[in-house]
Amino acid sequence: MNNKPIIALDFPGEKEVFNFLQQFNESLFVKVGMELYMQEGPSIVNKIKEQGHDIFLDLKLHDIPNTVQSAMKGLARLGIDLINVHAAGGRPMMEGALEGLEAGTAAGNKRPALIAVTQLTSTTEEQMQAEQKIALSLQESVLHYAKLTKDAGLDGVVCSVHEAKAIAEACGNDFLRVTPGIRMLGGDAHDQKRIATPDGAKKDGSSLIVVGRAITGAANPVQAYKEVCQLWEAK
Ligand code: C5P
Repeated sequence: MNNKPIIALDFPGEKEVFNFLQQFNESLFVKVGMELYMQEGPSIVNKIKEQGHDIFLDLKLHDIPNTVQSAMKGLARLGIDLINVHAAGGRPMMEGALEGLEAGTAAGNKRPALIAVTQLTSTTEEQMQAEQKIALSLQESVLHYAKLTKDAGLDGVVCSVHEAKAIAEACGNDFLRVTPGIRMLGGDAHDQKRIATPDGAKKDGSSLIVVGRAITGAANPVQAYKEVCQLWEAK
């Protein structure tokens, strides 16, 4: 798997996706989320793959182990590169997801990397404590879920930049920290609460960054992507 910034294709349909992608002359790493997948179905993944892009399928599965295992078996056949579940689904569910992916990956092909969402970046500490009845700090809860995910044999987690370093220390540097909430200096934060710049994310221990509106909403998305890459790749 490459470590290019992952562009979140948060578009309502296929037309908008390909209008966006046709501006680029290179292969990208893109994220297909629930909005797009629910509208267009698996064909959108096949069409993006045909153009040579790597795909993170961000469906955040969370169900009983058997159901997630079967769903993952089918999704692995799409030939995606990265996929996720919710760590709150529990260890047996995460293990089932991994088995499903292995079963659905064609012989000789690489299994998609599997990561787990710890706490959504839209969840505040107060909300987590009141609604989920977790009597920990948000940071402790994220770290706990990261360790559980590692014990279940998964490849990493989705977390905010602010927890990435602690997770690398607890789970090892090879355990992926995929971080959304990336903005350019002075850019609009939109609805994200815990944001970082691409170079800040690198310094603070992200292994992969997910960038949506800072690129898709820019006047010149290709230029914006280049600037994100330069900051992300800078030592
Ligand atoms: O536009 P923006 O850069 O905020 O987009 C971030 C992307 O990452 C969105 O597709 C969002 O759904 C996703 N995401 C997130 N926080 C998480 C998990 C996924 O923002 N915890």
